[in-house]
Amino acid sequence: MRTVTKDTITQAFLGYMAPDTDPRLREVLTSLARHLHAFVKETNLTHAEWEKGIEMLEWAGEISDTERHEMILLSDLLGISSLVDMVNMVPGGTSSSVLGPFHISGAPEIPIGFDMKRHFPGEVLLATGVIKNAAGTPIEGARIDIWQTAPNGLYSSQDPEQDTYSFHGIQTTGADGRYAFTTVKPVSYEVPTDGPGGALLDATGRHAWRPSHLHFIVKANGYRTLVSEIFADDDPYLDEDAVFGVREDLVMQYAEHPAGTFPAEGFELSGKVDGPWLKAEFDLVLTPG
Ligand code: BEZ
Ligand code: FE
Repeated sequence: MRTVTKDTITQAFLGYMAPDTDPRLREVLTSLARHLHAFVKETNLTHAEWEKGIEMLEWAGEISDTERHEMILLSDLLGISSLVDMVNMVPGGTSSSVLGPFHISGAPEIPIGFDMKRHFPGEVLLATGVIKNAAGTPIEGARIDIWQTAPNGLYSSQDPEQDTYSFHGIQTTGADGRYAFTTVKPVSYEVPTDGPGGALLDATGRHAWRPSHLHFIVKANGYRTLVSEIFADDDPYLDEDAVFGVREDLVMQYAEHPAGTFPAEGFELSGKVDGPWLKAEFDLVLTPG
């Protein structure tokens, strides 16, 4: 097409694709081009605005490394990550939620009853539940990869005071399908604001807070991998999560237990918890796949 106009450019772009282009790639790119071109026309995007957008993406690239994933953060803050989750959700199981940029591979295997809290200050939380299928049958050999922040609201990769794998661990379920560990009560925290993600929040008068949560990835043979998180029902940011990750079925209530009632056996902390403690009982339902 020699003369391209604003009315023909989308068709011209689509016509450039080779006939043997992968069909799914063709489908995704066709839709992407249609929406992006329509967006430019609808907003009458100026050169200065286009440049600003490019600068934001370049900044995201510069600030990112193997531990800092600013492009993921931008996707999270724009609601794209959560939408990808929602369109891929399979009914019948626990809802999925955002992975976020702070999962690290290679976390240590931790036994059932392990204590992740160690010397950190804060309330002891006993987190437990059964990993099961939709019929309620416990899944043996499921692997749950757990991570959360320390009480200062920082993940280990953000905090030079923490060990690499502090508040990270992987448990494998036995025949009862149960995971169980102690940790510190999760806190609300702000997502990083020193990059383009923060600039986006600033420019639109948004805050950076996420409601307190525990992250997990559950893998089991014959089941779809579940990437999700659980939230506490009393968190002030539950209805305004900066990254849109909260789903009704992922909200749980802590049960408060008085001093002297911590389980006498089965936990690394058995016999060592003098004060009151909290319990989160949360079953995770996997779907076949
Ligand atoms: C997180 O929960 O770790 C997280 C998710 C999205 C953006 C930043 C952090
Ligand atoms: Fe998080």
